Amino acid sequence: MLEIQNLTKRYGKFLALNDLNLHIDKGEIFGFVGPNGAGKTTTMRIVCGLLKASSGTVLIDGVNALLRPDDIKRKVGYVPDFFGVYDNLKVMEYMEFYGSMYGMEREEVCEISEGLLELVNLSDKREAFVDTLSRGMKQRLCVARALIHNPDLLVLDEPNSGLDPRARFEMKEVLKNLGTMGKTIIISSHILPELSEMCTSIGIMEHGQLIISGKVEEIMQKSAGTQPIRIKATVSGQGEEDGREYIATVLKEQPSVSKVSYTEDEILVSFTGSEQEAAKLLKTLVERDIAVSNFYREKEDLESLFLEITGGNQE
Ligand SMILES: Nc1ncnc2c1ncn2[C@@H]1O[C@H](COP(=O)(O)OP(=O)(O)O)[C@@H](O)[C@H]1O
Ligand SMILES: [Mg+2]
Repeated sequence: MLEIQNLTKRYGKFLALNDLNLHIDKGEIFGFVGPNGAGKTTTMRIVCGLLKASSGTVLIDGVNALLRPDDIKRKVGYVPDFFGVYDNLKVMEYMEFYGSMYGMEREEVCEISEGLLELVNLSDKREAFVDTLSRGMKQRLCVARALIHNPDLLVLDEPNSGLDPRARFEMKEVLKNLGTMGKTIIISSHILPELSEMCTSIGIMEHGQLIISGKVEEIMQKSAGTQPIRIKATVSGQGEEDGREYIATVLKEQPSVSKVSYTEDEILVSFTGSEQEAAKLLKTLVERDIAVSNFYREKEDLESLFLEITGGNQE
């Protein structure tokens, strides 16, 4: 369905996308995760034909999105990460406005819009002014309008940002329904757990590159056995910097430790050993005069995998 090959985007000298490769099958709900600035929006805008790439290929159902952006706009629906201001425009008029941009007849737009507003649970708001809607409602309206021309691929940029839990839940329900309708969906977020529940596959991006991607279960498997250990520890008589360095050195000497990184106040240890080996690690730290105030092993989940890949400063 979507094939991205060697995609590169420069903003001036800044390399925002660095040789990105990505493959998404039809019917997939693909979660695009990465910290702010990773290049998610840039990728999505290029896929939707809204931004020019510096080099590379984007194929949607075999059509080259970079060479034929107008054809692509018919195949793709885009929900941007901002909503805009619509003074004096009612919900139904808003839908008509977008329908007319695709050259659709008014009657056709109205008929389709009724169904779409129902889908996003906004039927009772059809005569409301757009600017009076809550943020969650606006987001859902945005989804409805992105579907007006019945695109095969729906691209949503951080649709959950700024929404309260209730609105998030409603958005999730809408997206699940779309999934069952056979649409291919790409949805970005900088929060992984939110996506892991409703996506069929996931890609984690950082610094313009895809670090890992695949089916949710496959990625879960990859993370199995690499549950990190979180440690809070100090070394008496040593400053914070020296202490950290000493602890890192000791940790790296141990078997099953593959990486040591720091979050604000914790040490995050990538660890592949058994429980007994974890206990041995703790014993070793104490024997080496490290004062351990907290030591616990993460459960196996996508969030720890994500933190392990993108979190903290690597040492
Ligand atoms: N128009 C632009 N001009 C210059 N730099 C930009 C522009 N748009 C985005 N960037 C930079 O490109 C990087 C990727 O941005 P973006 O795709 O928005 O990331 P994300 O959506 O993952 O937060 C960021 O470092 C951002 O500052
Ligand atoms: Mg973004």
